[in-house]
Amino acid sequence: MAENFDVKLVEEMKYYTPNPEYKRNSWLGDYQKAYDEFLADPDAFWSNVAHQLDWIKPWDAVKEWKYPYATWFTNAKLNITANCLDRHVNNNRRNKVALIWRGEGGAERIYSYQKLLSHVMRFANALKKIGVKKGDRVCIYMPLVPEQVIAMLACARIGATHSVVFGGFGAAALNLRIQDAEAKVVITADIAIRRGKAIQLKAIVDEAIMDAPSVEHVIVLRRKEPLVDIHPTRELDFYAVMEDVPEDCPPEVMDAEDPLFILYTSGSTGKPKGVVHTCGGYMVGTYYTSKYVFDIKDNDIFWCTADPGWITGHSYIIYGPLAVGATVFISELTPDFPDAGSWWSLIQEQKITVFYTAPTAIRMFMKMGEVWPNKYNLKSLRIIGSVGEPLNPEAFEWYYHTIGKDRCPIVDTWWQTETGMQMITTMIGEKMRPGFAGKPIPGVTVDVVDKSGKPVQPNTMGLLVIKSPWPAMLRTLYKDDERYRKYWYTIENCYTAGDLAVKGKDGYIMILGRSDDIIIVAGHNIGTAEVESALVSHKAVAEAAVIGKPDPLKGNSIKAFVILRVGHNPSENMTQDLLHHVRTTIGPIAMPQEIEYVDKLPKTRSGKIMRRVLKAKEMGMDPGDVSTLEE
Ligand code: WT7
Repeated sequence: MAENFDVKLVEEMKYYTPNPEYKRNSWLGDYQKAYDEFLADPDAFWSNVAHQLDWIKPWDAVKEWKYPYATWFTNAKLNITANCLDRHVNNNRRNKVALIWRGEGGAERIYSYQKLLSHVMRFANALKKIGVKKGDRVCIYMPLVPEQVIAMLACARIGATHSVVFGGFGAAALNLRIQDAEAKVVITADIAIRRGKAIQLKAIVDEAIMDAPSVEHVIVLRRKEPLVDIHPTRELDFYAVMEDVPEDCPPEVMDAEDPLFILYTSGSTGKPKGVVHTCGGYMVGTYYTSKYVFDIKDNDIFWCTADPGWITGHSYIIYGPLAVGATVFISELTPDFPDAGSWWSLIQEQKITVFYTAPTAIRMFMKMGEVWPNKYNLKSLRIIGSVGEPLNPEAFEWYYHTIGKDRCPIVDTWWQTETGMQMITTMIGEKMRPGFAGKPIPGVTVDVVDKSGKPVQPNTMGLLVIKSPWPAMLRTLYKDDERYRKYWYTIENCYTAGDLAVKGKDGYIMILGRSDDIIIVAGHNIGTAEVESALVSHKAVAEAAVIGKPDPLKGNSIKAFVILRVGHNPSENMTQDLLHHVRTTIGPIAMPQEIEYVDKLPKTRSGKIMRRVLKAKEMGMDPGDVSTLEE
């Protein structure tokens, strides 16, 4: 990843200063003042934030830190949906729009806070009716429709732990996640709609649950006419199951440390990690960052273009913005369909004020040219954000000038599935530095260190670490606490994020990319080992190694090196077959761009594939230390 390290950029010190009105009117006020207040008394800082929310019973302690385990808001009782829904309904905001959804062909659905609450309560009662209890796991595998939001909130309402699996994953990936979580119920839809075409989601679920004994019921949202057939007893219709249930469903009393959800993310082994987030700290962390990073005000219309199936959607479509009481816009439309103006037309139509997207989308728009955004009126935009991978300076400039019209501050937010909430950014009103995400948000402590944990000199590369616990941090990895401990023991007393970074002389942090075997493709986190196991599960493949290659649009693309078994020969058909195999096992997001057939892979004496060597060779670079390479 060191190829991203641009010394000139680090030394240059170029800034953009936002209009002072932004700071004057922001929830945060002055960054340094807020940060100093936090440092002076971290617990008082988080206690003040938590007091803005509703609790059934207050906490005995803000935090208890028994390295590497944290408890936040000890013994407090709450329900996150009471904060995301009832709190607004009971405070004269029941008619405020909570959710606006746009589908293809002009389809639109609008939910007020009251209506969203009513749907959530009915669906929650439906889940109860079919036997879902507090602590049970429910897998949600749905397209980007309001029912996905309703399903997640309904689980939270009754204390069931949701595990949302992004609709782009294939049957094997879905099966693995259902099995690991031992999900009792799977909630899905007949189809997703993408670029005018129907994607058969239910068929993938049918395959995924063939070997998943924990699953008792499948709930199907049927979007297509005529309605698809469903199994008379095991399968239930999303809306039919909501009939004949009581309207009211009081929020389940949850301990602050009860699990809220599991979300699987790629790790450096083939097995995905089930990141566990809990109710209290996660609520406080996502509420706080939604309010202060996006500076959400009552009149804002907030659009985060992620899918709820990723952590970005969990935290910044659903829990954070709804806890703030925002109007949230969501859309099933891709940025390039029916044409490259689709998202800009939605901003104009809906008068979006705060827009949050990913560098991969921004770079795609750059390629399409300014004509597309320039066709639309984007004056409603107030703040624009980025997440998922480094926002390189070229993309920053384009986003700032062409979309933000030199007027909107950019919040480039660094965080992870594991952190649950945003950790580093440039807070509203502060000067922005292209190529640099910014500084730790008040409430968070970070540093850039060497392998022994010693801070590196400014302007030099090191490992990004978090130095103290934060409320929305992961509590463990589901059924794999040993692996959780690694985050905190790789470097003593620090959380190691797995990213390389540089801290400038001004304290601004530039993220360079992953330091481990994870490739970020179009903002999606993909483990090399996951793709390798998928390839090796094909009957023709003996061995496989996968690397990330810099890609002007996707950030990285995947290249696979494959050794075929005897009796199988490289051919275009073989390549297509292997690509199809990866597609149906993990999903389209993990498909290699390139497959090269080889006879041998570089390995250490202990048999570990040295992807670093493959990568260096591929990029015409020095492979560095190869002393552990066999022969
Ligand atoms: C990894 C986490 C957090 C939601 C999306 C991804 C990379 C994330 C940035 C950013 C540079 C970023 C990191 C991180 N990343 N945001 N603003 N600048 N890199 O969540 O799938 O858990 O991936 O995404 O490499 O470790 P995730």
